[in-house]
Amino acid sequence: MMSLSRRHVLMGSAALAAAALLPSGCGQPPGHLKDLAKRKGILFGGAIGPEELADTAAHELVSRECGVITPRNALKWRTLRWDRSDWNFTEGDAIARYAAANNQKMRGHVLVWNPVENMPDWASDIPSGSAGRSQAIQLMETHIEQVCAHYGDRITSWDVVNEAFEPYSGDLAPGFFMDRIGPDYIEHAFRKAREAAPHAQLVYNDYMRWSDKYPNHHKGVLKLLENLRKKEVPIDALGIQGHIGKYYGTENDRHWRQFLDEVTAMGYDLLITEFDVRDFAPTADISARDANVAALTKGFLDITLSYPELKQFICWGLSDRWSWFRQSEPREDGQLQRTAPYDVDLKPKPMYAAIAAALITAPTREPSTT
Ligand code: XIL
Repeated sequence: MMSLSRRHVLMGSAALAAAALLPSGCGQPPGHLKDLAKRKGILFGGAIGPEELADTAAHELVSRECGVITPRNALKWRTLRWDRSDWNFTEGDAIARYAAANNQKMRGHVLVWNPVENMPDWASDIPSGSAGRSQAIQLMETHIEQVCAHYGDRITSWDVVNEAFEPYSGDLAPGFFMDRIGPDYIEHAFRKAREAAPHAQLVYNDYMRWSDKYPNHHKGVLKLLENLRKKEVPIDALGIQGHIGKYYGTENDRHWRQFLDEVTAMGYDLLITEFDVRDFAPTADISARDANVAALTKGFLDITLSYPELKQFICWGLSDRWSWFRQSEPREDGQLQRTAPYDVDLKPKPMYAAIAAALITAPTREPSTT
């Protein structure tokens, strides 16, 4: 088991000290994150799904805190196109109605996600290799056209391509589109997205660890962004997912800044698209775990929000009640992961205060037009 590092403990104290400055009494939220963010020119929001749509307590929280929402799974191929001959826009449309009713923007996630397991099973009828190239291009382009046409300007920012790389080698990963179309599937996707959603911000989205564990992944993404610029491919921004805390203890601020410096020097905007923190601290003490999550939050946000090119910041769920880590990455001790700003009872946690504190100290920027 790892021990809590001194750095995390110190960062935890800083976040807690900042929290104490906020008017938080009686478990009430200290302020609306969307308002704190807006003052700095940042659009703040959260991902939602059927869980939140069906939960009336969630409605109050999501409408209060979020200036933008994004569907966790509703716009993925396996949701929209499970059935070969029919589209299923039910959940995506419910989220779009929710956003409109609450005066929130909506981000789209995701048009092209290459791993075979993210595609509906029927798509594998298209042969692999060059034999399937033209069919795969047609399938991808028609998908982009139809989904973008369905939502039109209701979606103001799109993850056009998600997670295209092998984590260790930094090469483009094999997968449904890569195996049939080749590396230029990315370029095709962005060009088609610009045509189909001319007013939307177009984003390449990837996990982008705040760590030195994946130097080649960082290099691969930089090379892609550089090539797309050279070829005048229409792409506006890099989406940093921000599922942090996986390689606990390998966070590397210098490496992270260098990466962000290079991305912004190429003229790209930045977004944090899926923020949450793995609660892997090796202790059962909830306040120590929460302090650790808050420290990681503050450490990551202090650097990332310092870039004026960062204009949107989205949590992958506002509450532990709906955290995807509950199933996908349970803690070894069987305790529930505490990964989000609110706990299962929808009470704000130190992570909430850490986000608020980071927003309060972030520099002001020109807000995004999308
Ligand atoms: C996750 C969802 O949260 C889960 O509900 C689903 O079972 C799997 O996908 N990166 C992404 C997101 O781009 O789409 C993933 O969402 C989390 C990792």
